[in-house]
Amino acid sequence: MAGIFEVDEAKCVSCGACVRDCAFRALKMEGGAPRMAFPDRCMKCQHCLAVCPTGAVTFDGKRPEDSVPVKDLPLPSLESVENWLRTRRSMRYFAAEDVERATLLRILSVLGNAPTGCNARALTFTCFPTRESMDGFRRDFISVIERHRDGAKLLPRWLAVPAIRMRNGEDDMFFRGASGMLVVSSDDAAPGVATPLEDVTIACAQFEMLANAAGIATCWCGFLKMVQQEVPELLEQTIGLRRTAPFYAMLFGRPAVRYARGVQRDSYARIDFRG
Ligand SMILES: Cc1cc2nc3c(=O)[nH]c(=O)nc-3n(C[C@H](O)[C@H](O)[C@H](O)COP(=O)(O)O)c2cc1C
Repeated sequence: MAGIFEVDEAKCVSCGACVRDCAFRALKMEGGAPRMAFPDRCMKCQHCLAVCPTGAVTFDGKRPEDSVPVKDLPLPSLESVENWLRTRRSMRYFAAEDVERATLLRILSVLGNAPTGCNARALTFTCFPTRESMDGFRRDFISVIERHRDGAKLLPRWLAVPAIRMRNGEDDMFFRGASGMLVVSSDDAAPGVATPLEDVTIACAQFEMLANAAGIATCWCGFLKMVQQEVPELLEQTIGLRRTAPFYAMLFGRPAVRYARGVQRDSYARIDFRG
Protein backbone atom coordinates (compact mmCIF):
# COMPACT_ATOMS: atom_id res chain seq x y z
CA MET A 1 0.00 0.00 0.00
CA ALA A 2 3.10 2.21 0.26
CA GLY A 3 3.04 5.76 -1.03
CA ILE A 4 5.91 7.68 -2.60
CA PHE A 5 7.47 9.90 0.03
CA GLU A 6 9.52 12.82 -1.28
CA VAL A 7 11.34 15.46 0.71
CA ASP A 8 12.42 18.86 -0.57
CA GLU A 9 15.72 19.05 1.25
CA ALA A 10 15.94 22.81 0.73
CA LYS A 11 12.78 23.19 2.85
CA CYS A 12 13.32 20.34 5.35
CA VAL A 13 14.49 21.56 8.76
CA SER A 14 15.19 18.04 10.06
CA CYS A 15 12.67 18.47 12.89
CA GLY A 16 11.58 14.82 12.63
CA ALA A 17 7.88 15.70 13.03
CA CYS A 18 6.93 13.47 10.07
CA VAL A 19 8.88 10.53 11.48
CA ARG A 20 7.32 10.91 14.93
CA ASP A 21 3.78 11.23 13.55
CA CYS A 22 4.01 8.11 11.38
CA ALA A 23 1.64 5.67 13.09
CA PHE A 24 3.36 2.49 11.93
CA ARG A 25 6.91 3.83 11.99
CA ALA A 26 7.41 3.57 8.23
CA LEU A 27 9.68 6.64 8.19
CA LYS A 28 13.15 7.03 9.59
CA MET A 29 15.69 9.88 9.93
CA GLU A 30 18.83 9.18 8.00
CA GLY A 31 21.68 11.62 7.62
CA GLY A 32 19.45 14.42 8.95
CA ALA A 33 16.61 13.78 6.48
CA PRO A 34 13.46 11.66 6.76
CA ARG A 35 13.01 8.80 4.34
CA MET A 36 10.59 5.96 3.74
CA ALA A 37 12.36 3.06 5.43
CA PHE A 38 9.54 0.49 5.67
CA PRO A 39 7.14 1.07 2.75
CA ASP A 40 5.06 -1.99 3.65
CA ARG A 41 4.00 -0.26 6.84
CA CYS A 42 2.72 2.90 5.12
CA MET A 43 -1.09 3.26 5.16
CA LYS A 44 -1.11 6.47 3.11
CA CYS A 45 -2.65 8.51 5.91
CA GLN A 46 -0.58 11.54 4.75
CA HIS A 47 0.16 12.63 8.30
CA CYS A 48 3.74 13.28 7.13
CA LEU A 49 2.44 15.74 4.53
CA ALA A 50 0.02 17.35 6.98
CA VAL A 51 2.39 17.75 9.92
CA CYS A 52 5.48 19.14 8.14
CA PRO A 53 5.82 22.74 9.38
CA THR A 54 7.77 23.92 6.32
CA GLY A 55 5.85 22.12 3.56
CA ALA A 56 8.83 19.97 2.60
CA VAL A 57 6.94 16.69 2.14
CA THR A 58 5.21 15.61 -1.07
CA PHE A 59 3.34 12.36 -0.71
CA ASP A 60 2.23 10.25 -3.67
CA GLY A 61 2.44 13.34 -5.87
CA LYS A 62 0.33 15.37 -3.45
CA ARG A 63 2.09 18.66 -2.88
CA PRO A 64 1.73 20.55 0.39
CA GLU A 65 0.63 23.74 -1.39
CA ASP A 66 -2.40 21.86 -2.73
CA SER A 67 -3.60 20.74 0.72
CA VAL A 68 -6.61 22.23 2.47
CA PRO A 69 -5.25 24.97 4.75
CA VAL A 70 -5.94 24.60 8.46
CA LYS A 71 -8.22 27.62 8.87
CA ASP A 72 -8.02 29.58 12.06
CA LEU A 73 -11.74 29.09 12.70
CA PRO A 74 -13.12 28.28 16.14
CA LEU A 75 -14.47 24.76 16.45
CA PRO A 76 -18.13 24.54 17.53
CA SER A 77 -18.14 25.19 21.25
CA LEU A 78 -18.64 22.36 23.72
CA GLU A 79 -21.88 24.07 24.68
CA SER A 80 -23.19 24.05 21.14
CA VAL A 81 -22.19 20.44 20.45
CA GLU A 82 -23.65 19.42 23.80
CA ASN A 83 -26.90 21.20 22.99
CA TRP A 84 -27.06 19.43 19.63
CA LEU A 85 -26.38 16.00 21.12
CA ARG A 86 -28.89 16.50 23.93
CA THR A 87 -31.66 17.73 21.64
CA ARG A 88 -31.02 16.07 18.26
CA ARG A 89 -33.95 13.87 17.24
CA SER A 90 -34.59 11.03 14.86
CA MET A 91 -37.07 12.64 12.47
CA ARG A 92 -40.15 10.54 11.77
CA TYR A 93 -41.87 13.04 9.41
CA PHE A 94 -40.20 14.90 6.60
CA ALA A 95 -41.33 17.92 4.60
CA ALA A 96 -42.50 17.33 1.03
CA GLU A 97 -39.54 19.14 -0.49
CA ASP A 98 -36.14 18.14 -1.81
CA VAL A 99 -32.85 19.12 -0.22
CA GLU A 100 -30.80 21.20 -2.66
CA ARG A 101 -28.28 19.05 -4.48
CA ALA A 102 -25.44 21.53 -3.89
CA THR A 103 -25.86 21.17 -0.11
CA LEU A 104 -25.92 17.39 -0.37
CA LEU A 105 -22.87 17.38 -2.59
CA ARG A 106 -21.02 19.58 -0.12
CA ILE A 107 -21.96 17.33 2.81
CA LEU A 108 -21.04 14.11 1.00
CA SER A 109 -17.74 15.56 -0.19
CA VAL A 110 -16.81 16.52 3.36
CA LEU A 111 -18.03 13.15 4.60
CA GLY A 112 -15.35 11.47 2.50
CA ASN A 113 -12.98 12.66 5.25
CA ALA A 114 -14.60 10.45 7.88
CA PRO A 115 -11.97 8.22 9.46
CA THR A 116 -11.67 4.59 8.37
CA GLY A 117 -9.68 1.83 10.08
CA CYS A 118 -6.12 1.60 8.67
CA ASN A 119 -7.12 4.49 6.39
CA ALA A 120 -8.76 1.99 4.03
CA ARG A 121 -11.24 4.54 2.60
CA ALA A 122 -13.24 1.85 0.79
CA LEU A 123 -16.66 3.42 1.33
CA THR A 124 -19.38 4.12 -1.21
CA PHE A 125 -22.06 6.73 -0.59
CA THR A 126 -25.15 5.75 -2.56
CA CYS A 127 -27.53 8.66 -2.36
CA PHE A 128 -31.17 9.02 -3.33
CA PRO A 129 -31.20 12.81 -3.27
CA THR A 130 -34.76 13.66 -4.32
CA ARG A 131 -38.35 12.62 -3.62
CA GLU A 132 -38.56 11.29 -7.15
CA SER A 133 -35.50 9.08 -6.71
CA MET A 134 -36.75 7.92 -3.30
CA ASP A 135 -40.13 7.03 -4.76
CA GLY A 136 -38.32 5.03 -7.42
CA PHE A 137 -36.40 3.22 -4.70
CA ARG A 138 -39.63 2.54 -2.79
CA ARG A 139 -41.19 1.02 -5.92
CA ASP A 140 -38.12 -1.17 -6.53
CA PHE A 141 -38.11 -2.14 -2.85
CA ILE A 142 -41.72 -3.28 -3.03
CA SER A 143 -41.26 -5.18 -6.25
CA VAL A 144 -38.22 -7.08 -4.91
CA ILE A 145 -40.15 -7.94 -1.76
CA GLU A 146 -43.16 -9.09 -3.73
CA ARG A 147 -40.98 -11.28 -5.96
CA HIS A 148 -39.09 -12.76 -3.01
CA ARG A 149 -39.50 -16.47 -2.57
CA ASP A 150 -37.83 -18.51 0.11
CA GLY A 151 -39.33 -21.93 -0.46
CA ALA A 152 -42.70 -22.05 1.21
CA LYS A 153 -41.64 -19.54 3.88
CA LEU A 154 -43.91 -16.48 4.00
CA LEU A 155 -42.63 -13.00 4.73
CA PRO A 156 -42.97 -12.15 8.42
CA ARG A 157 -45.87 -9.89 9.34
CA TRP A 158 -43.61 -7.03 10.50
CA LEU A 159 -42.37 -6.83 6.89
CA ALA A 160 -45.39 -7.87 4.83
CA VAL A 161 -47.96 -5.57 6.44
CA PRO A 162 -45.97 -2.29 6.27
CA ALA A 163 -44.89 -3.18 2.72
CA ILE A 164 -48.53 -3.50 1.66
CA ARG A 165 -49.39 -0.25 3.44
CA MET A 166 -46.50 1.44 1.68
CA ARG A 167 -47.54 0.07 -1.72
CA ASN A 168 -51.06 1.38 -1.10
CA GLY A 169 -49.71 4.80 -0.16
CA GLU A 170 -51.16 4.54 3.38
CA ASP A 171 -48.02 4.72 5.46
CA ASP A 172 -44.25 4.57 5.08
CA MET A 173 -42.98 2.88 8.23
CA PHE A 174 -39.67 1.84 6.65
CA PHE A 175 -38.65 5.14 5.08
CA ARG A 176 -40.70 7.64 7.09
CA GLY A 177 -41.69 9.64 4.02
CA ALA A 178 -38.10 10.90 3.74
CA SER A 179 -37.19 12.90 0.66
CA GLY A 180 -33.77 11.29 0.54
CA MET A 181 -31.67 8.39 1.71
CA LEU A 182 -27.97 7.74 2.00
CA VAL A 183 -26.69 4.17 1.96
CA VAL A 184 -23.11 3.94 3.17
CA SER A 185 -21.44 0.68 2.21
CA SER A 186 -17.96 -0.74 2.54
CA ASP A 187 -16.07 -2.69 -0.06
CA ASP A 188 -14.82 -5.08 2.57
CA ALA A 189 -12.99 -7.15 -0.05
CA ALA A 190 -10.72 -4.20 -0.94
CA PRO A 191 -7.12 -4.36 0.27
CA GLY A 192 -6.46 -2.99 3.73
CA VAL A 193 -10.07 -2.92 4.93
CA ALA A 194 -9.88 -3.83 8.61
CA THR A 195 -13.03 -2.39 10.16
CA PRO A 196 -15.80 -2.25 7.53
CA LEU A 197 -18.81 -2.03 9.82
CA GLU A 198 -17.20 0.57 12.05
CA ASP A 199 -16.24 2.63 8.98
CA VAL A 200 -19.83 2.57 7.77
CA THR A 201 -21.27 3.48 11.16
CA ILE A 202 -18.83 6.32 11.74
CA ALA A 203 -19.66 7.81 8.34
CA CYS A 204 -23.39 7.60 9.13
CA ALA A 205 -22.90 9.30 12.50
CA GLN A 206 -20.86 12.06 10.91
CA PHE A 207 -23.46 12.43 8.16
CA GLU A 208 -26.09 12.99 10.83
CA MET A 209 -24.01 15.74 12.38
CA LEU A 210 -23.20 17.47 9.09
CA ALA A 211 -26.77 17.19 7.83
CA ASN A 212 -28.26 18.55 11.06
CA ALA A 213 -25.80 21.45 10.92
CA ALA A 214 -27.25 22.26 7.49
CA GLY A 215 -30.84 22.13 8.82
CA ILE A 216 -31.45 18.69 7.31
CA ALA A 217 -33.18 16.19 9.57
CA THR A 218 -32.12 12.54 9.65
CA CYS A 219 -33.26 9.15 10.84
CA TRP A 220 -31.19 5.98 11.05
CA CYS A 221 -32.83 3.38 8.85
CA GLY A 222 -32.40 0.18 10.83
CA PHE A 223 -35.45 -1.24 9.08
CA LEU A 224 -33.55 -1.45 5.81
CA LYS A 225 -31.00 -3.64 7.53
CA MET A 226 -33.72 -5.84 8.99
CA VAL A 227 -35.43 -6.22 5.62
CA GLN A 228 -32.10 -6.98 3.94
CA GLN A 229 -31.53 -9.78 6.44
CA GLU A 230 -34.92 -11.24 5.52
CA VAL A 231 -34.63 -10.62 1.76
CA PRO A 232 -30.90 -10.98 0.98
CA GLU A 233 -31.29 -10.03 -2.70
CA LEU A 234 -32.91 -6.69 -1.81
CA LEU A 235 -29.98 -4.29 -2.11
CA GLU A 236 -28.35 -6.28 -4.86
CA GLN A 237 -31.45 -5.86 -6.99
CA THR A 238 -32.26 -2.28 -6.03
CA ILE A 239 -28.85 -0.61 -5.83
CA GLY A 240 -26.40 -3.25 -7.03
CA LEU A 241 -24.81 -3.86 -3.64
CA ARG A 242 -23.08 -7.18 -2.99
CA ARG A 243 -25.16 -9.34 -0.64
CA THR A 244 -22.51 -9.50 2.05
CA ALA A 245 -21.37 -5.86 1.87
CA PRO A 246 -21.50 -4.11 5.25
CA PHE A 247 -23.84 -1.11 5.03
CA TYR A 248 -26.09 1.22 6.92
CA ALA A 249 -28.67 3.71 5.72
CA MET A 250 -29.70 7.17 6.81
CA LEU A 251 -32.98 8.82 5.86
CA PHE A 252 -32.90 12.56 5.42
CA GLY A 253 -34.94 15.56 4.39
CA ARG A 254 -36.14 18.90 5.59
CA PRO A 255 -37.93 18.41 8.93
CA ALA A 256 -41.71 18.41 9.19
CA VAL A 257 -41.70 18.44 12.99
CA ARG A 258 -40.14 20.88 15.40
CA TYR A 259 -39.32 19.52 18.84
CA ALA A 260 -39.96 21.99 21.61
CA ARG A 261 -37.74 20.34 24.21
CA GLY A 262 -35.30 17.51 24.80
CA VAL A 263 -36.27 14.08 26.10
CA GLN A 264 -35.64 12.77 29.61
CA ARG A 265 -33.75 9.55 29.34
CA ASP A 266 -34.40 6.87 31.92
CA SER A 267 -30.85 5.75 31.61
CA TYR A 268 -27.66 7.08 30.12
CA ALA A 269 -24.47 5.18 29.44
CA ARG A 270 -22.78 4.05 32.65
CA ILE A 271 -19.71 6.19 33.30
CA ASP A 272 -16.98 4.10 34.83
CA PHE A 273 -13.91 6.13 35.75
CA ARG A 274 -11.04 3.89 36.77
CA GLY A 275 -8.84 6.48 38.32
C1 LIG B 1 -28.79 2.02 14.59
C2 LIG B 1 -30.13 2.69 14.66
C3 LIG B 1 -31.17 2.25 13.86
C4 LIG B 1 -32.40 2.90 13.87
N1 LIG B 1 -33.39 2.53 13.01
C5 LIG B 1 -34.54 3.24 12.95
C6 LIG B 1 -35.55 2.96 11.98
O1 LIG B 1 -35.41 2.06 11.15
N2 LIG B 1 -36.66 3.73 11.95
C7 LIG B 1 -36.86 4.76 12.84
O2 LIG B 1 -37.89 5.44 12.78
N3 LIG B 1 -35.92 5.05 13.78
C8 LIG B 1 -34.77 4.33 13.84
N4 LIG B 1 -33.81 4.65 14.76
C9 LIG B 1 -34.04 5.77 15.68
C10 LIG B 1 -34.26 5.28 17.11
O3 LIG B 1 -35.53 4.71 17.22
C11 LIG B 1 -34.08 6.52 17.97
O4 LIG B 1 -32.73 6.86 17.98
C12 LIG B 1 -34.57 6.34 19.41
O5 LIG B 1 -35.94 6.09 19.42
C13 LIG B 1 -34.29 7.57 20.22
O6 LIG B 1 -34.81 8.73 19.59
P1 LIG B 1 -33.87 9.95 19.22
O7 LIG B 1 -32.87 9.47 18.19
O8 LIG B 1 -34.77 11.00 18.67
O9 LIG B 1 -33.18 10.37 20.48
C14 LIG B 1 -32.59 4.00 14.76
C15 LIG B 1 -31.55 4.42 15.57
C16 LIG B 1 -30.33 3.80 15.51
C17 LIG B 1 -29.20 4.33 16.34
